[in-house]
Amino acid sequence: MDLFEKLEKNMGPLGMYSEQAEGYYIFPHIIGKLASRMKFNGKEVVMWSINNYLGLGHRPDVIKVDADATAEYGLCYPMGSRMMSGNSKQHEELEEELAEFVGKESAVLVNFGYQGIMSAIDCLLDRKDVVVYDAESHACIVDGVRMHLGKRFAFTHNDLESLENNLARATKIVEKTGGAILVISEGVFGMRGDQGKLKEIVDLKQKYQFRLMVDDAHGFGVLGATGAGAGEEQGVQDDIDIYFATFAKSMASIGAFLAGNKNVVKYMKYNMRSQTFAKSLPMPFVIGAKYRLKLLKENPELKANLWKNVNMLQNGLKEAGFNIGDTNSCVTPVYLKGTVADATQLTYDLRENHGVFCSIVIYPVIPKGMIILRLIPTAYHTKEDIDQTITAFLAIKEKLESNAYSSEFMVAG
Ligand SMILES: Cc1ncc(COP(=O)(O)O)c(C=O)c1O
Repeated sequence: MDLFEKLEKNMGPLGMYSEQAEGYYIFPHIIGKLASRMKFNGKEVVMWSINNYLGLGHRPDVIKVDADATAEYGLCYPMGSRMMSGNSKQHEELEEELAEFVGKESAVLVNFGYQGIMSAIDCLLDRKDVVVYDAESHACIVDGVRMHLGKRFAFTHNDLESLENNLARATKIVEKTGGAILVISEGVFGMRGDQGKLKEIVDLKQKYQFRLMVDDAHGFGVLGATGAGAGEEQGVQDDIDIYFATFAKSMASIGAFLAGNKNVVKYMKYNMRSQTFAKSLPMPFVIGAKYRLKLLKENPELKANLWKNVNMLQNGLKEAGFNIGDTNSCVTPVYLKGTVADATQLTYDLRENHGVFCSIVIYPVIPKGMIILRLIPTAYHTKEDIDQTITAFLAIKEKLESNAYSSEFMVAG
């Protein structure tokens, strides 16, 4: 069989909808400056799909710092991988500042979070080791774990009994192989918004020998007294052995970092293949990240404004009778019942008739019959944005419950 013929016959779980959905439901074009109201399909919509939590992405001072750094250095300097020719004093300073902010001895930058964490998992483990990870981990963790040549056990999402069973299995294996155990959780799970049970996981260190890695993409900058993330929020930051966060959320940029004790960071710096064999972060991203981190440290009101809006949105949804599950972060899911066809039509209804744009999660990502509307509140959403959205949700919920949407798959307008 010809490879391309095979692929064309089965474009994958989302690709199969490309004809009807592309440009509207999938790969939409959202136009305008990052703001709580942007343009989609020619209309203004309240925007709930962008992780610009603290509003740094559209601040004129932030854009100016990015632009000035680009004018000075262009987008290529320093050129090459960090190890060969792509290093600079600014890269190293940013690493020191990040390490200090998250309370770790040392940090290493990675050019994208996705490859960075994959590569970190890959380099930290050998075939004698066992990795034990949350079954609902982000794709980058799943892919990192797939690269591991030894045993890998997924524990049921945030289920401590399942984690403990898997730790017991893993312990037996490493006693034979002479290897070690790495447990991986997220600080905040990006779909449901529930925090990883880091405190309880850390407690298990009394009983089992393992190291803990935490992907805190949605916790960094927004959780904890200083914004150092889910570990700080739960009082266990010191017990996270390898802390990861990306600049793609609260920092509103590109890049990421891993932090931990001096020696493990040094080990990662020398052994992460995705960094050794790829170009380092260009200077505008490094200078931009330094500025964003400074803002984050010096302006606690950014986080306070965010949480004011998170609470207003989440309380408003609950008071209106919506099920938002067990989120204890900014990520706000709204659970509804309906088919995939319902989901496409209510999305269309929300966008075209109510001016509300949010992400919709459906089967096969979640079980059949469920729909999740996922909202990312930010520091700059307004009460009017929130009220308009809750009113819209009430209207579409009523339609769902009275079977007002047809069973046809909705084609974009
Ligand atoms: C939980 C989590 N981990 C890792 C990543 C990947 O980070 P990056 O966008 O820097 O590749 C993301 C998405 O941005 C994420 O949500």
